[in-house]
Amino acid sequence: MRISQTVDWAMDKSVVLGYSRIGPVLRQAWWPADAKPNALAGRHVVVTGASGGLGAGIAAGCARLGATVHLVGRDKDRLDESARTIRSSVAPATDLVTEVCDISDLDSVRDYAADLSGRISELHGLVHNAGVLPPERRESPQGHELVYATHVLGPSLLTHLLRPVLAADGDARVVWMSSGGMYTRPLDTTDIEATQREWSGTDAYARTKRMQVVLAQMWSDRMRVDHIAVHSMHPGWSDTPGIADALPGFHRVIRPALRTTEQGADTAVWLVSAPGGSVTAGASGVFWSDRRPRPLTYAPWQKETPGERARLWEAVGGAIGVDVA
Ligand SMILES: NC(=O)c1ccc[n+]([C@@H]2O[C@H](COP(=O)([O-])OP(=O)(O)OC[C@H]3O[C@@H](n4cnc5c(N)ncnc54)[C@H](OP(=O)(O)O)[C@@H]3O)[C@@H](O)[C@H]2O)c1
Repeated sequence: MRISQTVDWAMDKSVVLGYSRIGPVLRQAWWPADAKPNALAGRHVVVTGASGGLGAGIAAGCARLGATVHLVGRDKDRLDESARTIRSSVAPATDLVTEVCDISDLDSVRDYAADLSGRISELHGLVHNAGVLPPERRESPQGHELVYATHVLGPSLLTHLLRPVLAADGDARVVWMSSGGMYTRPLDTTDIEATQREWSGTDAYARTKRMQVVLAQMWSDRMRVDHIAVHSMHPGWSDTPGIADALPGFHRVIRPALRTTEQGADTAVWLVSAPGGSVTAGASGVFWSDRRPRPLTYAPWQKETPGERARLWEAVGGAIGVDVA
């Protein structure tokens, strides 16, 4: 093993070194090259949760590479403000489109997918970045537990509905923004919507982040035939409104070590823009952080069984009304 690989692995195992801003600062010495300037010119990229935080960082990174970026969020004013900020940092003529869709609301997702598919013929990138960690158990308009609806159901339905325009691109990339928090939970397909168990935000968050990683692999298996790559990733710990609101104690203590949104967004931008090789459909289904594949589990008890994977797929397909073999 090369020294850089050993150091990289040790940083990941230490958690703080790998997840803090030290991670990208050191790893950029050996990580794969940036995409070429204008690598995304003429391409469309959808980023959910782009009204702030990492989503705005991902949108800015893709716009800098020439993409037409579709900024998706729940509030038009917040999206427009985000677009203004991105234009002021990238270029006034940056091609940004702000689009309202509540990812937790399956009707809103259906309307958005139909509308977008009528306006564009090819979609190169779909970044499932929208995330929540609410203080108490809430439900989506269809009555699903909100964290599950936002992290799992909405993105699954959007992936399914946008599949034709993704396939038309010929080299499309779907990125699920998961979290290192997923390491704290195995795939748990019992009481998925937490109606029987005591609900906690961090538990719902970590369980659905694990589901995202497993689903990314399952979508990858199914979409490879259409030359669509599907990846999941961990952005490290980044200074965003979400972290400050949901985890104020953690944010206060660790703030000096947190990544900038640009550093946290880096791997998503790279996955969408990198040419060929490990990021394209032939090699997708991988969990990434700082431009390197990372283990899916650190302990044998975390590995799910084929039966648990099948149950997750069935539950999600049933909830979104889609039967994808
Ligand atoms: N920051 C970190 O250190 C960190 C670490 C690990 C993983 N992550 C993951 O990275 C992603 C972004 O995190 P962040 O820290 O940037 O969070 P954030 O600052 O809270 O931003 C979340 C974004 O998601 C949007 N959003 C929430 N619910 C939505 C919905 N139902 N429909 C559409 N958009 C919705 C919000 O937009 P509106 O409220 O304007 O609609 C906002 O733009 C999340 O998936 C998070 O789990 C972050």
